[in-house]
Amino acid sequence: MSFHPETSAITAGRPEVAPDAPLNPPLVFSSTYHAGGPVGYGRYGNESWSALEAAISELEGGQTLSFSSGMAAISAVFSILPIGAPVVASNQGYSGTMGLLNQHHATGRLEVRFVDITNTAEVVTAIKGAALLWLESPTNPCLDVADLEKLIAAAKKLGIGVAVDNTFATPLVQNPLAMGADIVMHSVTKFLSGHSDVLMGSLSTNDPALYKRLHDSRSFNGSIPGPFEAWLALRGLRTFPLRFNKSQESAKELVKRLSEHPKISRVRYPGFGAIVSFEVDGTAEQTQKVCESSTMIAHATSLGGVESLWERRRRWPIESPTVPEQLIRLSVGCEHVDDIWDDITRALNAI
Ligand SMILES: Cc1ncc(COP(=O)(O)O)c(C=O)c1O
Repeated sequence: MSFHPETSAITAGRPEVAPDAPLNPPLVFSSTYHAGGPVGYGRYGNESWSALEAAISELEGGQTLSFSSGMAAISAVFSILPIGAPVVASNQGYSGTMGLLNQHHATGRLEVRFVDITNTAEVVTAIKGAALLWLESPTNPCLDVADLEKLIAAAKKLGIGVAVDNTFATPLVQNPLAMGADIVMHSVTKFLSGHSDVLMGSLSTNDPALYKRLHDSRSFNGSIPGPFEAWLALRGLRTFPLRFNKSQESAKELVKRLSEHPKISRVRYPGFGAIVSFEVDGTAEQTQKVCESSTMIAHATSLGGVESLWERRRRWPIESPTVPEQLIRLSVGCEHVDDIWDDITRALNAI
């Protein structure tokens, strides 16, 4: 039976119904299993992972593998490419992904071509002869949006693999596998788990052979999650649609208010989601002071939790110089929108 995502988030990944069977999946701590079954050892599979993986599969489609972090999931994708494989990726995106791609390029592990993913024609030209098109849309933190349908169709026509980091949009906004992508990736750390208490990642694919290669990569590299993290992430996932919809509604209201604020020079928002990036009309130091002046919004990195968080992205030395010094990335939580707004205006009054 296929449900709306709001329902699947609640019903998926539960044990089979039987008298006295638990409603929730068990938390299995075991490094090994009695011989004779298909799993055999704790690095190859775990019931607590499987429950979470089944739930993500219901939301994104395909078959899912969970990883110890979003970066571990991304690393698994690159690990299955041959040495020197040409990869096309956005010239702006999550700093960890950019750092990894730059490292692979510098060592000759991959040949990375960076493009402006908002320029569909440029990307379509660049992907000729590539092994993989890596897409992140909207991008972190500038919220650039790619025309996923067109780019995936163009890549498929040329037989090029496509992987999409769907962390910011989430399956409530877009399903890249349904558009023809080969892999959809999540930092489960963010919206899917949603309580800033877990680091995890996932990859989902419709292709059984690709699933097997990614599974082997996870097993051989040992980039597996802990059972408790998987259990916590699934518990968080139950309320993912509720949290995301609430945060998105507040984000839209905050975008309106921020756009009219005299101390804000630019607001970036793709029209959906719970991340808003805006630029302070002032210096980097003043912008930093704004972030440090909030009393309710946490001054912290990361995103996608019930708690509103913000930070000046350029405070990180690895952040791309193309990200403006005055850009604040706000992850809108589930608090009352007026309380978030009051804290923003109070912090802006500090400069
Ligand atoms: C868009 C995006 N992709 C991937 C990652 C990496 O995920 P993790 O921190 O779980 O390794 C992040 C982390 O912020 C992210 O924002």
